[in-house]
Amino acid sequence: MDYFVIDGPTPLMGDVRIAGAKNATLPLMAAALLARGETRLANAPDLRDRRFFLDLLRELGVAGELANGELRLDTTVPLTSHTAPYDIVRKMRASIYVLGPLLAAYGAARVSKPGGCAWGPRPVDLHTAGVAALGAEVTEEHGYIISRAPRGLRGGRFRFEPVSVGATCNVMMAAVLARGETLLENCACEPEVVQLGEALVAAGARVEGLGTRTLHIEGVSSLAPLRCTVIPDRIEAGTFLAAVAVAGGRIRLSGCRLDHLQPVLGVLRDLGCTVASEGDQVVAERRGPLQPVRVITEPFPGFPTDMQAQIMAAAALAGGVSRITDTIYPDRFTHAAELQRLGAQIDVHDGTAIVTGVAALQGAPVMATDLRASAALVLAAVAAHGRSEVRRVYHIDRGYERIEQRLAALGAKIQRMSA
Ligand code: EPZ
Repeated sequence: MDYFVIDGPTPLMGDVRIAGAKNATLPLMAAALLARGETRLANAPDLRDRRFFLDLLRELGVAGELANGELRLDTTVPLTSHTAPYDIVRKMRASIYVLGPLLAAYGAARVSKPGGCAWGPRPVDLHTAGVAALGAEVTEEHGYIISRAPRGLRGGRFRFEPVSVGATCNVMMAAVLARGETLLENCACEPEVVQLGEALVAAGARVEGLGTRTLHIEGVSSLAPLRCTVIPDRIEAGTFLAAVAVAGGRIRLSGCRLDHLQPVLGVLRDLGCTVASEGDQVVAERRGPLQPVRVITEPFPGFPTDMQAQIMAAAALAGGVSRITDTIYPDRFTHAAELQRLGAQIDVHDGTAIVTGVAALQGAPVMATDLRASAALVLAAVAAHGRSEVRRVYHIDRGYERIEQRLAALGAKIQRMSA
C-alpha cells in the first residue's frame, strides 16, 4: 500500500494545469448507457475512480477504452448484464449512477446498495424515490436495489429534499427517455450537473432550466451517443489554491473555469492570499500571515463541502480562531484528528469545527481516511516542520492525477513510497 513521505516546510512556486473534473466524468460515463453507439468524452482525467467506473461499464458489457485522454464508450453491442455488483460498488459509491440510465434504456437495473464512507452514511433514498416517481418499481433484496420499468418510464414530478448532486444526475438521466413531461424541483446546479444536462441536450434530450433549481424535461424516444469535453475540476483547482494558502508561495493555475471557482476564491482572499485571474488562469500568492475565516458549506453556488478539509488545513495556521461548518455532511471531519497529530488545535461540535491557529505544524505520521481529507493532510504536511508520512494514499489517487509529481514540480519535497 503506497504512502507519501513529505519533508517541510516548503513554499510552492510554479505552474500547474488543471485536469478534467472527476465529478463530471462519472455521470457522463453513466449517460453513455442511454444511447446506442460510441460516446466520446475528451479531457477525461486518469483517476482511480474513472478506472473503477470503466470496470463497471465493462462489467455491464460496454466496450470502453481511454485513448489520449479521450474516453470512448461503445454500447453498440447489447449489454450482457444490468447488475452493478457489490465488489465494484463498495469501492465507488458513484456506481449508483447506472440506476437511472439502465432503467431508462433497458427497463431493468440491479445495483448494490453503496455502503457508507469514512464520515458516515451516504443514503441513496432520493435516487430510488426519484426513479419511482417516474414509474419504476423499486425493491431491496440482499443488499441490492432491484428496479424494473417493464413498460418503460413515464414523466412525473419529484422534489429533492435535501439538494442532491447525485440524485439530480440520476433522475435527470432517467427522465430524458421517459414518456412525457417531468418536473424536477430543488435540483442541484453544480457545474458537473449542468455539464451532464448540456451533453444530454446536445445528444437530443429536451431539458430546460439547467443551472437553476427547477428542471423541465420532455422525454424523447432515443439519444445520439454523447460527445463532449469534460470541464476542469474545480475541486482540484481549489485544492492547489489552498496548497499555496497553507504553504505560502505563488502558483499559477491554467485550464480553470473561473465561474466555477468564485466561492473558493473568496475564502482564499479572506485567508490573506492575493488572487488574480485572467482567462482560464488563476494566480494565487501568499506572502504574509494567514487570517482566520468563517466558512459554511452549501450546495453550489455556495462554498463546496469538497473544499472544507483543505481550508481547515490553512485555518490551522491562521493567526486567530476560524469556524468551519459543514451543512451538507455534518460529520465530515475525520481529517481533524489527523491534523491534530500535526499540531493543529481543532474542536469539532455539531457539524462545526473551531480551529485555533498555531504558529507552526510539526511533521508526523498520519493516515488518510477519504479523498479530500487526504488532500488536506498532504497540504498540511508540506507546510509542517520536519518529516511526515501520509498513509493510505489510495484515497487521494481517487480524485487527483499524480498529485505527488505535480506538487514536487511546485517545489514540495514529497515522494511516493510502496510499503
Ligand atoms: C457528490 O456526492 C460528490 N460526488 C461529492 O464529492 C460531494 O461531496 C457531494 O456531491 C456534495 O457536493 C460525486 O459527484 C461523485 P449529494 P453525492 O447527494 O451526490 C443527502 C468528492 O470528494 N442525500 O449531493 O453523493 C446526503 O446525505 C465527493 O469528490 C440524501 O439524503 O452527494 C447529503 O447530506 C465526496 N439522500 C446531501 O444529500 C440521497 O439519496 C448532499 O449529498 C442522496 C443524498
